[in-house]
Amino acid sequence: MLHLTDLHMGRKNRFKNVNFYRLGKSFAEQVLEARAAAGLGQDKIDVIFVTGDIAETGDEKEFKDGVTFLHTVAEFLNVQRSRVYFVPGNHDISWPLCKEVTDAQAREHFDNEEMVRRFSKVKLRYYEDFRHQFYGMKVNHIPGYRGLSYGAEVWDIPELGLTIGAVDACERESHLTTDQMGTVGEEQAQELMNVWGAPHYAHWKKILLVHHNPGETVDSNHKSWEDWIRKEKQLPADKVERFMADITGFPGKDFLRRIVSDRRVQIILHGHHHAHPMNPVAWQYFSSPESGYVLSTGSWGLQDADRPQGEANTCQIIQIRSGEPGANLRVHALEYDPSLPVHGQVSDGGWRLMNGPRGNQQLNVAL
Ligand SMILES: [Fe+2]
Ligand SMILES: [Fe+2]
Repeated sequence: MLHLTDLHMGRKNRFKNVNFYRLGKSFAEQVLEARAAAGLGQDKIDVIFVTGDIAETGDEKEFKDGVTFLHTVAEFLNVQRSRVYFVPGNHDISWPLCKEVTDAQAREHFDNEEMVRRFSKVKLRYYEDFRHQFYGMKVNHIPGYRGLSYGAEVWDIPELGLTIGAVDACERESHLTTDQMGTVGEEQAQELMNVWGAPHYAHWKKILLVHHNPGETVDSNHKSWEDWIRKEKQLPADKVERFMADITGFPGKDFLRRIVSDRRVQIILHGHHHAHPMNPVAWQYFSSPESGYVLSTGSWGLQDADRPQGEANTCQIIQIRSGEPGANLRVHALEYDPSLPVHGQVSDGGWRLMNGPRGNQQLNVAL
């Protein structure tokens, strides 16, 4: 499996001046080289996960670059488009479309409940158009797809014994500063809990996708928030709330923890904090010493100035090996090195395996 997050296509993307077809092809080739170098053999990449912030401002042009890049990556990794799975991130929300709602409210004087209802109808329109273009069909026509209420989704791949659940942590997001924070409400979390309670899922592998970090972020992010707090004279309540969510995890994270613990989810993938942590976080199952692992990776595409200090652009290859004793979950991080000479490429810059303990995790999960 390949996990990418936080592409941030648009003005803050480090590759913004590059042809996205050519970039997608060379990225895919380097992923295959890294797979071989990591000793993962020729095992096929079955699925690709993209955990949000595909765009920078939720704009159509940014999503168009996302389609070109991801179509090419899927093609050269030989992954069917219907095996690429997405969750929306806060940067995939269209602020101009949300602003049209508040403009209408100023004219028509409807209440805030109606405003939130209208936000949720429009804010992900360009993201949904993106998925439609990417798949070449509506998402609900993807084999194994099930749309739940409140933004949660499930995809089943019976031949892999794999079910993928996605929660929309942008439930509350809009252009209003008071709304700019990840949230997963009780209703959508409970829907996913209910679906995965069906007996046939008991022996399936389960992967949960969410955009925002459901737990503590890395030290470099603590430091940049600390610098920001020191500069601010007075902190408005909404900013304090957002700061707390970005540092310690969003409201609703405990609902996800219960799903993981109760339904024995093996892997939780997320992005948002633009960092590849030192250690995966273990979420222990109910009355069992076994755990699921929260595995995040850093931003695939954000330029240097917008990433936490010391964090490269990263992505990760994840391998689950059923029926093997010992470490059955292997995670290999790839990082972008702007000075790397790449075979067949006239300019420097490419992806390679990350060295050290952060680059190579060997874990054991209950299968
Ligand atoms: Fe992001
Ligand atoms: Fe984000």
